[in-house]
Amino acid sequence: MMDNIITVKNLTKVIDNRVILKDINFDIKKNEVFVIVGGSGSGKTSITKHIIGLWKPTEGDIMINGESIVNLDKDKLNKIRMKMGYVFQEGALFDSLNVWENVGFYYIEHTNKSKDEILNIVRQKLKEVNLDESILGFMPSELSGGMRKRVGVARALAIDPEIIIYDEPTSGLDPITSRIIDNLILDLKNRLSITSIVVTHDMVSAFKIADRIMVLDKGHIEFIGTKEEFKSSKNPIVRSFIENTHIEY
Ligand SMILES: Nc1ncnc2c1ncn2[C@@H]1O[C@H](COP(=O)(O)OP(=O)(O)OP(=O)(O)O)[C@@H](O)[C@H]1O
Ligand SMILES: [Mg+2]
Repeated sequence: MMDNIITVKNLTKVIDNRVILKDINFDIKKNEVFVIVGGSGSGKTSITKHIIGLWKPTEGDIMINGESIVNLDKDKLNKIRMKMGYVFQEGALFDSLNVWENVGFYYIEHTNKSKDEILNIVRQKLKEVNLDESILGFMPSELSGGMRKRVGVARALAIDPEIIIYDEPTSGLDPITSRIIDNLILDLKNRLSITSIVVTHDMVSAFKIADRIMVLDKGHIEFIGTKEEFKSSKNPIVRSFIENTHIEY
């Protein structure tokens, strides 16, 4: 369907005879915030690796804007990857590079843009995530956890992506900083029409930002639905996520 920006169809992944993902099917619509929850090792990060084309399915298909990406050559795949920003689990930055080199990394490595042109892009991206340009020269070790995550988001934004994938963006952050990250995800959706996939263990965050929530369990889909459907679900695995959370508003 045309308004599906991402389609995952009958995705199965087997590594060393172990089934990592089993017959995964879902669509993500343009401008949706799609949240993935599930226990450790349930396959959340593995799904995102297929969506960015880093892993090939053992069976099944991945489509971005209606186009299958699983058999593309390197150049075509790279073109599609340019639509996607990825905010890594642990908010990983390059430790030996300062903030502007981290955010401008793509342009430094892959274009002939001048330092001034790149700095202009970086300043604008920092503004979009509400960071002051006085940190341009800071090293990652000089930033707080929340600032590091925001620099990670700014780096993902650098290529003007249509889709951003966040792998546990609030893990390790205090509740106040976590809510700032939630608001940032919503702001990018509303202001820049970005489609988001957010992998999280943080149910407060999930209930705040999600249009739909998908629950994974041991490599298969246990549930997909809206927040309301999630909250009223009788599925015991879904309930376990609700009951282990103190929902604060
Ligand atoms: N490169 C790999 N080679 C072999 N197995 C892998 C590889 N990466 C992940 N796995 C396995 O795939 C399964 C799913 O891993 P995945 O990283 O997707 O889980 P996750 O849901 O993201 O977990 P977490 O919440 O701990 O990040 C796990 O059993 C893991 O051991
Ligand atoms: Mg993971």
